Amino acid sequence: MTDAADPTDPATRAGWAAAFTARAEAHWTPSRVAALAAGKALVLPPIEAALLLRALGLLRADASLPPSEVRKYWQVSHMVTVLGPALRALREREGTLRVVDAGCGRSYLTLVLAWIARARWGQRLEVLGVDRNPDVIAAGRRRAAIAGLDDLVRFAIAPLDGFDLAAAWSHAFVRDPDVSSGPRLDAVVALHACDTATCDAIALGAHAGAALIAVAPCCQAELARGWAELADAGAAGAFAPIWAAPHLRRETAAEVTDALRTLLLRAAGYEVAAIEFVPSPHTRKNTLVRAVRRGPPDPAARAAYDALVAATGGRGLALADRMPPRW
Ligand SMILES: C[S@@+](CC[C@H](N)C(=O)[O-])C[C@H]1O[C@@H](n2cnc3c(N)ncnc32)[C@H](O)[C@@H]1O
Repeated sequence: MTDAADPTDPATRAGWAAAFTARAEAHWTPSRVAALAAGKALVLPPIEAALLLRALGLLRADASLPPSEVRKYWQVSHMVTVLGPALRALREREGTLRVVDAGCGRSYLTLVLAWIARARWGQRLEVLGVDRNPDVIAAGRRRAAIAGLDDLVRFAIAPLDGFDLAAAWSHAFVRDPDVSSGPRLDAVVALHACDTATCDAIALGAHAGAALIAVAPCCQAELARGWAELADAGAAGAFAPIWAAPHLRRETAAEVTDALRTLLLRAAGYEVAAIEFVPSPHTRKNTLVRAVRRGPPDPAARAAYDALVAATGGRGLALADRMPPRW
């Protein structure tokens, strides 16, 4: 079975959506839903979330979930579950929630956040997906239209370094009355944004005073590069054996980088937890740094950052000079 109508054409979308929802209702019998759930709660029930799941490419045109997409379905569901406690805190905020998905890629989380807020919380949550790759943004726009979320989900093609949030938000959500003074930003999420893009996302969220910053880092090489320079220079230090061994250097630098990010977020007044994100033996990119804005800047955390930098060879993160307040 194929979708006869173009689900992105405003003239035919309503008919397509009604037909697809009817197909989902027919396909997802209670026994099929129970087999999918296998005793777990479904945060994205296949009937209620049918259009979203179709937009994400998880449901086929006949509304079935092919075995090849079951793993992705659970990954997407898991993202929401892990972010749940922090998202619940956001729900207590008044009015429209505003979120940036930094390095949004093919916009799985971008769309799911808008959907959950509308379908489950009855709350308007606007998401700006930002990515430097125009191809993934084009795919994201199409997906948002298919899911019927294009009033809530907008996109910007831009690098995150130096990203002008106020201008981009104003451009994306044109009628926003707050943009002249910069929009209130409630959250920044960044899942596996490459290399220093995670630090860019943290800086963006901290400067905007976001209540939640949640990042799952990916392949950050800045510190490893600095340690390689120390090894090349024959520098002495307790960490010299790690500086000199490429694999150990890369792995250790990734962990220390996350610890340094954690301290910089604490220094900026956030309560931070670094937790396992996607339990999997197949990926090491499974740390989620979850930061919730709590109070004033914490000089002790900044001192701890400086101490960790000193103990590991004197190389820190450029992020340290980009975080508020400036020390
Ligand atoms: C591994 S993908 C992850 C996509 C998505 N967040 C997810 O979890 O499915 C990383 C994305 O970050 C984008 N990206 C990496 N560095 C970036 C930068 N400096 N500025 C903007 N986008 C960036 C890439 O184009 C890519 O789409």
